[in-house]
Amino acid sequence: MNEWVKSAWRNKPRVQMPVYTDEAALNSVETQLAKYPPLVFAGETRTLKSELAKVASGDAFLLQGGDCAESFSAFSADGIRDTFKVMLQMAMVLTYGAKVPVVKVGRMAGQFAKPRSTPTETVGGVELPSYRGDIINGFDFNPASRVPDPQRMLQAYTQAAATLNLLRAFSTGGYADVHQVHSWTLGFARGQGIEKYREMADHISDALDFMRAAGVDSFRAHTLQTVDFYTSHESLLLEYEEALCRIDSTSGKPVAGSGHMIWIGDRTRQPDGAHVEFARGVQNPIGLKCGPTTTADDLKVLMAKLNPENEAGRLTLIARFGAGSVGDHLPRLIKTVQEEGANVVWTCDAMHGNTIKSASGYKTRPFESVLREVQEFFAIHNAEGTVPGGVHFEMTGADVTECTGGVRAVKDEDLSDRYHTACDPRLNASQSLELAFLVAEELRARSKVGVAKAS
Ligand code: PEP
Ligand code: CO
Repeated sequence: MNEWVKSAWRNKPRVQMPVYTDEAALNSVETQLAKYPPLVFAGETRTLKSELAKVASGDAFLLQGGDCAESFSAFSADGIRDTFKVMLQMAMVLTYGAKVPVVKVGRMAGQFAKPRSTPTETVGGVELPSYRGDIINGFDFNPASRVPDPQRMLQAYTQAAATLNLLRAFSTGGYADVHQVHSWTLGFARGQGIEKYREMADHISDALDFMRAAGVDSFRAHTLQTVDFYTSHESLLLEYEEALCRIDSTSGKPVAGSGHMIWIGDRTRQPDGAHVEFARGVQNPIGLKCGPTTTADDLKVLMAKLNPENEAGRLTLIARFGAGSVGDHLPRLIKTVQEEGANVVWTCDAMHGNTIKSASGYKTRPFESVLREVQEFFAIHNAEGTVPGGVHFEMTGADVTECTGGVRAVKDEDLSDRYHTACDPRLNASQSLELAFLVAEELRARSKVGVAKAS
């Protein structure tokens, strides 16, 4: 394959990217960003890759989650804390319930750019360019706000840096200490479906007390007091990605400095397109969304391009077919992976194939469909003897009403109460936790029948 340079994507066909009209302004932002420190460090991306290698072999489980789109207006320390907290709780449920280590990856600190199904949107007879995420243009429906503005990249960088700073503090500064397992529920109202969580937290506390009483002095060991938390986003806005690309001083190879893991979306995975060209050259773990239109031929080329050395943990295939359709597509793609002898992580994005328009006009996702897609994903992997490596959710720690269903049932008519997403509907804290318990059951059932290592 050709020698890779970080700007080579510019010579490839691109889709879903903005056309900046003020080239001088764009160049000046790119020059500035190129001088800024990377947001993540090469060694961290290598560690994540080795964690994902464990996921590929069934020795760990991947939990990836966060906003569909981060936004400038919703940015707050409490928002970051709450999403981080729910992910910790979910990870605890999975670790306790299924006895597997959980690799935690946020859709955070960079998840700003959005592919759209149409280039324009029409409201009340007025047609304007679509909103493409806060890193590109504004959400407000007026002509000025919808003009792509390169300055927004600087604000996105600053927000990502501040987000990461807080996440690093939460991960290592005591907040994520397993002894805090009870305190992560503070802020949940009664009846939010966390009784089960509290019960589990009691058991964990008991076990920790026992260890202390028994003189197991490693009970305060580093592993219990801190967590590794990684960031990820769709690498859609390639000017931003290129500007943050750095050379890993240890390996001498290029690395995306914008986040630990980057992924290629279902709409930008053209094998000869710009997005694949950029991602193939950076050493980070790469995600690839696989939807119903992913063909075996494309997948073969993509796997060869994105993971030419067949490195474990490098490539995560993010299946997003929709409940009821997993059986039509996953088996054929698993077959392709097997024929190629490719080393991949399989994870299930149970959100993007399940978006519907509710009777009230809101874009929503029924909790039941999300769960059903996860169950179909597990059932197929169990039948094929392959590893269902993880789950990928659009979720928030906030008490929003964007997806319907769950124990504290959100109904169609409730959607307007707290519908805050800048893009797709997210599971709220209680729905996320409920789902974690259900996923843990799937994982536990799997380990009982002893298939976890079958492949
Ligand atoms: C997303 O993850 O927000 C997204 C747009 O997904 P997909 O590329 O799978 O449609
Ligand atoms: Co989305």
